[in-house]
Amino acid sequence: MQRHYAIIGHKTPSSGKLNLNDLSGSGRMDVLVRAINSALFVSHGIRKDTTIVLHLQGGDGPDRRVLFDGEKLAGVRPDERSIAGQIKAIMKLPIPPIGHYKEVTQGIYHSGGDIFNTIDLWKVEEININILDAEGIDINQVSKKEKIGIILSDDLPFNDKEIEKFTDYQKVSLGEKWLQGHSCIAITQYVLDKL
Ligand SMILES: C[S@@+](CC[C@H](N)C(=O)[O-])C[C@H]1O[C@@H](n2cnc3c(N)ncnc32)[C@H](O)[C@@H]1O
Repeated sequence: MQRHYAIIGHKTPSSGKLNLNDLSGSGRMDVLVRAINSALFVSHGIRKDTTIVLHLQGGDGPDRRVLFDGEKLAGVRPDERSIAGQIKAIMKLPIPPIGHYKEVTQGIYHSGGDIFNTIDLWKVEEININILDAEGIDINQVSKKEKIGIILSDDLPFNDKEIEKFTDYQKVSLGEKWLQGHSCIAITQYVLDKL
């Protein structure tokens, strides 16, 4: 089963300088980097069945998406500082047009666009879209699909526009307690591994 994660960085700048010594103060880039770690890395390797798209939707400039594709990824270590270093380099590049994912290094791509552009693409790719939300249906009730898409937020709640758009999709819960995003990803990987 292919897993596609999308995390929304509501405050994370899409361009400019990234301070590797203060990822938390850089629009909660730390949250996004931990999400990459949980989604893509197992103890000794990379999950080839998983992609994750970071949505850099904070700051003044246009939004940017950064896609990590586990099937193609090489030369990336499960080390938050080195992953952040790769994102830092991407943030200095011009943002490609929406709809065009430009490869930066093997398995890492970037494009313009926001979470709604990702949803549009996932619909074309027949990815079954799910929203992670404590008030959704129990994760164990999710039916087995060839391609599953999972959307989560950073440390902020989904905004009004997102809530409105997400009514079209199934909400999936990991219990009543609100958890950190990277923990949610680890749990979903565990559940999907067992399906
Ligand atoms: C740190 S939480 C965000 C908490 C934020 N204060 C809020 O009220 O939404 C990050 C994301 O993880 C997901 N999440 C956290 N706990 C969850 C749970 N129990 N079930 C499903 N998703 C959860 C949601 O997508 C949430 O937006």
